[in-house]
Amino acid sequence: MSKNLFNEKDFSGIKTQGIKYAGSKLKIIPYILESIKDLEIKTVLDGFSGSTRVSQAFAQAGYDVTSNDIAHWSEVCAKCFLLYDKDKKYYQNIIDELNTLDGYNGWFTTYYGGGEVMDVKMPFQIKNTRRLDAIRDRIEELKLNDIDKSVILTSLLFALDAVDSTLGHFVSYLSKWSKRSYNDLYLKLPDLKETIGNHNVLREDIFKVVENDYFDLAYFDPPYGSNNEKMPPSRVRYSSYYHIWTSVVKHDKPVLFGKVNRREDSKDLVSASVFEEFRKNNNGNFIAMEAIRMLIQNTKARYVLLSYSSGGRATKKELETILNETGKVLKIIEIDYKKNIMASMRWTNEWLNSNDAHKEYLFLMEKTQKNYKTPPKNPYATIQSHFS
Ligand SMILES: C[S@@+](CC[C@H](N)C(=O)[O-])C[C@H]1O[C@@H](n2cnc3c(N)ncnc32)[C@H](O)[C@@H]1O
Repeated sequence: MSKNLFNEKDFSGIKTQGIKYAGSKLKIIPYILESIKDLEIKTVLDGFSGSTRVSQAFAQAGYDVTSNDIAHWSEVCAKCFLLYDKDKKYYQNIIDELNTLDGYNGWFTTYYGGGEVMDVKMPFQIKNTRRLDAIRDRIEELKLNDIDKSVILTSLLFALDAVDSTLGHFVSYLSKWSKRSYNDLYLKLPDLKETIGNHNVLREDIFKVVENDYFDLAYFDPPYGSNNEKMPPSRVRYSSYYHIWTSVVKHDKPVLFGKVNRREDSKDLVSASVFEEFRKNNNGNFIAMEAIRMLIQNTKARYVLLSYSSGGRATKKELETILNETGKVLKIIEIDYKKNIMASMRWTNEWLNSNDAHKEYLFLMEKTQKNYKTPPKNPYATIQSHFS
């Protein structure tokens, strides 16, 4: 990050990369950075890092970043961008070799490759899954260390993302091949930026992370549950939406089920996050909201920045109450997502009256310090007990 003529922090040079991701905060990164730029903070947690774009932005802005998400693909991308430690030439040589490989029919082709004349809907054309089979096997043979492998796998994820035939997730496939799916799979070196901070990457349930560590600022962008009570609990289920990325990263050839060949471990009952839960608990409170309440309460941080999309289950009022329970709301930022402008910003905890369905909100709160010291013994178990 640089400074402009007036010695102010200048974020215009910050550039991030990521796969197409439901709920990616790419468009609001400038507002996130702007909202925290005057705080005296060094260590920052991105607790639900997803595409890792926000983690990348924090790192480029000069913070010490801990990037966490339960998803395997997210861990891989975060390790690539935050922890890479070799010369770019080293990675480029590996990528060059992978790009020369001839494709063949393997596991990915069997389950995800379709012919140019489409008889079954598939997410990739067979010429590209054949290349994927060859490249993925070769990456395993190379026996790279964890971080180097993450750089190469990120390059593969991006290359696949550029030739898919989907609407941005893998729970249904298009009935006609997308234009980009005709292109050849081609790996490129991710845009690795030099950053000054000490970074850390975790793949943990968020409750574990906040139980163990202190951060100057914790940024939370949880997957808010549906705001329609009658809707089945499958609105955005991250593990089912992106099951193929898990298989590419793990290369474990899992048992599959259903029309789109989903991994068995992406079934809702196995992998649903408590934040995606749409039901109420025995006390009549939404389980997802209780999870957010508990998360904010248990977070050991000076500041918490919370993202909220107005399409989600949580109401603004409920969030206001939750945030004010353990500290003080300092700023509320309302962003018109469609127009990509900051509609308004309040410096108090006074509520905004807008009811527009396409708004993004950022709440910045300062925690009351004494709350650090008394987390419940096992917050996650407490939350799980609400399921009954
Ligand atoms: C709204 S997305 C985050 C998007 C991210 N901010 C970005 O810009 O790409 C929510 C993320 O929360 C993760 N997640 C869900 N439950 C979690 C949990 N209990 N602990 C950690 N991560 C979780 C999901 O895997 C998903 O990537």
